[in-house]
Amino acid sequence: MYLGIDVGTSEVKVLLLDDQHRTIGTAGSTLEVSRPHPGHSEQDPASWWSATGKALKTLQQNHPQEYQAVRAIGLSGQMHGAVLLDSANRVLRPAILWNDTRSALECEEMMAELPAAAQLAGSLIMPGFTAPKLRWVAKHEPQVFSQVSKVLLPKDYVRLMLTGEHITDLSDASGTAWLDVANRAWSPELLALTRLSEVQMPHVVEGSAPGGALSPSAASALGLKPGIVVAGGAGDNASSAVGMGAVNAGEGFLSLGTSGVLFVVTPRFAPNASSATHAFCHAVPERWHQMSVMLSAASCLQWAKQALGAPSESALEQQASGLDFASRADAPLFLPYLSGERTPHNDAVIRASFHHISHSTSQAALAYSVIEGVTFGLTDGLNALKKAGSNVTRLSLVGGGARSAMWAQQLASSLNVEIVTHADSAAGGALGAARLGWLATGATLEQVCTQPAVTRSYRPDAAEQALLAPRYARFQAIYPALKALH
Ligand code: XUL
Repeated sequence: MYLGIDVGTSEVKVLLLDDQHRTIGTAGSTLEVSRPHPGHSEQDPASWWSATGKALKTLQQNHPQEYQAVRAIGLSGQMHGAVLLDSANRVLRPAILWNDTRSALECEEMMAELPAAAQLAGSLIMPGFTAPKLRWVAKHEPQVFSQVSKVLLPKDYVRLMLTGEHITDLSDASGTAWLDVANRAWSPELLALTRLSEVQMPHVVEGSAPGGALSPSAASALGLKPGIVVAGGAGDNASSAVGMGAVNAGEGFLSLGTSGVLFVVTPRFAPNASSATHAFCHAVPERWHQMSVMLSAASCLQWAKQALGAPSESALEQQASGLDFASRADAPLFLPYLSGERTPHNDAVIRASFHHISHSTSQAALAYSVIEGVTFGLTDGLNALKKAGSNVTRLSLVGGGARSAMWAQQLASSLNVEIVTHADSAAGGALGAARLGWLATGATLEQVCTQPAVTRSYRPDAAEQALLAPRYARFQAIYPALKALH
């Protein structure tokens, strides 16, 4: 048995996988995000560890025999978050998350000081990344900065609790903007931009390689065997790719989670910073990937549920699905920039908006426009990836949004690609993590990284494309006008 732990933004998910590729069970425990100021997004690292413990307890209760047979653990997690530790491994302040946009000024300063930064890091330096957050802390909280002994990424804080070691993997390390992505090693030049050195960084390993062993104290607290291997693991996107079997050039997936991501594997480091895409290391050796990232995807529907007082996201999704094409054509347009946007705009201050609301606009029409706005944001993402040299004809759909047939169909039409869903689509990151644990025991890529069976395929629909094309053109025209207002 292999255990995957995915430290997400809204939930810690755990998954048990056997060596016949069967998912034996999953469990989860929810997390809250705190937004103490506009543009800030934080979580307490202790909440990741307690949610991990809760989810594992459920898994153990439901599958006691299999849980006992776990021989390796893999970790996956929300990327980029800054966990600051002092020399006694105490957390110095709440973790600053991937969708926190406070450090836009620091990004500009860093790129002006080192014009080669984007080429080294594989991306423009963006406020979500870890490095500019540390520069912000140095400026605004110098007493905290002076005590920083180690900086960890979210899943690697959970690893510290499991193993007592400071280790990260190359895919997640790519999202710090401290990594020389082409050479798969920390970059002294990038670290110097934040007055840090390799001493403050965790040791870096390949995602599929061993990255620590379960300590006796964690093993007894969790009911697992001491000494079992904990794999390097991966950022949640590279991990989802491993879960969907996307490890060869040209293979990819689309994730509708809190964030919205299009991910394509590349055989070499292929950055194109001007398209506001990221070129990062993959979780397996000698492979890289390109991705476009939207900051708010399924989280837009979660926001709409709260704002409209709807009972659930799926109730809103059902209302939207019930609209005929004539009503959809008259629905408002929604710009999904609830916390700014990365690809394609790299704009920390833009915010979301509805356009074209009338007396007859219903809740269903608003729900439709939120879903469609996310689809259009992902269409922008695919266009940016095309500029960066990637092309795809088929994408696996993963994340919570993968449950919606209407959304999957709309994505196929708007992106003009085949969208496929798989049995374990909703647990992409946790499945990939379990697979990385399996690889760390010495199994081969061919054995482990197979594509899970396709449960459903969605192909572009000409009538839906005729509905979406003029609406996408209007969607694209709104951002430049809004930007001028900000
Ligand atoms: C990727 C990114 C998000 C987070 C979400 O660059 O910021 O996809 O990893 O968990």
